[in-house]
Amino acid sequence: MTHTTFRVHVDPDKCQGHNRCYSVSPDLFELDELGMSSEIGTGLVPGGLVSLARLAVENCPEHAISLTELSELSELSELSELTEAEVQP
Ligand code: F3S
Repeated sequence: MTHTTFRVHVDPDKCQGHNRCYSVSPDLFELDELGMSSEIGTGLVPGGLVSLARLAVENCPEHAISLTELSELSELSELSELTEAEVQP
């Protein structure tokens, strides 16, 4: 069985801190001390949160959020390596 994996990303050059993304889905986005948003971790979207990720994309007034379908297995393995690297002390 195959399923589609998505990755969400906030462009820091476009984000102006409207915080709608965080309001819609605090499980996918985090805010810095200035209220600017970024994706949590590698931005991989759990299956149950894809619709909320789309809602965040649609509600960002700056069009700062992208939602990318990861269809290449190599992309997924790269992200897995990133995730493993992030948990290293
Ligand atoms: Fe930034 Fe858009 Fe969220 S401006 S804080 S990415 S709603």
